[in-house]
Amino acid sequence: MTDDVLIERPDAYPGVEVIRLNRPAKKNAITRAMYAKMAQALNAAASDDAVRATAFLGTEGCFSAGNDMADFMAFAMGGTMGGEVLDFLRALAGAQKPLVSGVDGLAIGVGTTLHLHCDLTIASSRSMFRTPFVDLALVPEAASSLLVPRIAGHQRAFALLAAGEPFTAAQALEAGLIWKIVDAEAIETQALTLAAGLAAKSPEALRIARQLIRGDRADVLARIDEEARHFSAQLKSAEARAAFEAFMRR
Ligand code: COA
Repeated sequence: MTDDVLIERPDAYPGVEVIRLNRPAKKNAITRAMYAKMAQALNAAASDDAVRATAFLGTEGCFSAGNDMADFMAFAMGGTMGGEVLDFLRALAGAQKPLVSGVDGLAIGVGTTLHLHCDLTIASSRSMFRTPFVDLALVPEAASSLLVPRIAGHQRAFALLAAGEPFTAAQALEAGLIWKIVDAEAIETQALTLAAGLAAKSPEALRIARQLIRGDRADVLARIDEEARHFSAQLKSAEARAAFEAFMRR
């Protein structure tokens, strides 16, 4: 199984499982194998009493550059996208235990939309959130087309998801997409401390509170599937292929 995602259980943070994107040479771009490993970890955590909170982390200066472009290209050229992405998004949206994330630096595509499913996201001030879906002739994913307007209103959702405008950490905070900004060097310890704090609480009370706050997720899961249908069709478009080729050539 790939080491580009590491699953860690740090002794200093009891009850916390870390899902770490660990492909720094490729800016932590996420491949099918990485999605599969993350989905497996989330699904296993659901029935493992030792895991009470999950923390998503990247590497220094980079959370993720989003979906792997070579995988996009392979699909555009007639290959199969595979179910790994959808399996991950469904596991993420359906998670019953608290999710924390820590962002330092780049957060592109799913590197941004993943956090919409997290309960507490912290970011360093040098972080940058960007979803260039339409620039790649693609469409929003991970139910972002439902969740961002809900969280941040139409204008900011359109700026992020359709216009492809980058959001600084301060803009993401103001839009309600993240919880707080912390020093870059404190991202890991603060994210893990937050997760450990949640892990120490009554699991049942926290589960119920989280469920009440988040509400029914049926619409979110349905939107993930609806977006995926459009996304798959657009991936095969001539414009998308040209955008992937331009990235490969640069
Ligand atoms: N998929 C695959 N590889 C990626 C990648 C991605 N999404 N993003 C970056 N990489 C790779 C680059 O190809 C490069 O690999 P190489 O050194 O073997 O050539 C390496 O990561 C470093 O990237 P580079 O572009 O040189 O770094 P940068 O600091 O100049 O720019 C980004 C970083 C993230 C701004 C730029 O790489 C980028 O725009 N990536 C695509 C992001 C994207 O559109 N994702 C899909 C969203 S839906």
